[in-house]
Amino acid sequence: MKWYDVFSNIYDSSLEKLYFKSRVRAIELLDLKSGQNLIDIACGTGANFKHIKATNEELEIYGTDFSEGMLRKGQSLIKKNNWNDITLFQADARELTPEFIKKQINKDLSFDRIICVLGLSVIPEWEVVLDKMLDILKENGRIVIVDVFAEKRNFNTWLVEKIAKADLNRKIWQTLEKKTTNFHYEYLPVKENKVGGKLFVATGIKSKRR
Ligand SMILES: C[S@@+](CC[C@H](N)C(=O)[O-])C[C@H]1O[C@@H](n2cnc3c(N)ncnc32)[C@H](O)[C@@H]1O
Repeated sequence: MKWYDVFSNIYDSSLEKLYFKSRVRAIELLDLKSGQNLIDIACGTGANFKHIKATNEELEIYGTDFSEGMLRKGQSLIKKNNWNDITLFQADARELTPEFIKKQINKDLSFDRIICVLGLSVIPEWEVVLDKMLDILKENGRIVIVDVFAEKRNFNTWLVEKIAKADLNRKIWQTLEKKTTNFHYEYLPVKENKVGGKLFVATGIKSKRR
């Protein structure tokens, strides 16, 4: 995780303009309601939080990431804005079981909403992690995933994969579609050469049967 500790120092200044509108759209698709709880998995520097707070102030928000450096940035953002309803904790997403989460936050929680932006292309064993996410999502809860898929590989794909330590060959939305209902998928308006492929948002609802 050392790389993201270093990357955290320039992450927001180099990428935030690029992803701003996509975050707004992803959070719109979360369809947040007052009183709900939400977890941002691989939350990084907390770049989603201001959009979530702008949509609804009455939420219980959690963020988790493996990188201490990214979480430090997220924590100072929370402090600066006095966001007392946002709690961060460190975790390898592969360990996100209900028991693990309970130990971290001292609460037995499952979540109304899950968001993961640019995480599943980076995290190893992403299919296992997606299953873990669905395990901690409430029945009828909604999950929103934003990520990049390279249909045609080129130099930019290679470069983004190197910089982000990502694998842009993962057909994440296809797996999500199989495991959720009310599935929706759309491309987001970001130039492919900037992100190494097509940026998409995919969302679905957890049903009883998966
Ligand atoms: C490209 S960044 C995305 C950060 C943030 N979601 C955003 O939208 O800006 C990928 C994030 O995945 C995190 N990450 C990588 N491997 C992880 C793992 N095994 N478990 C949890 N987070 C991980 C990194 O620390 C980093 O913050």
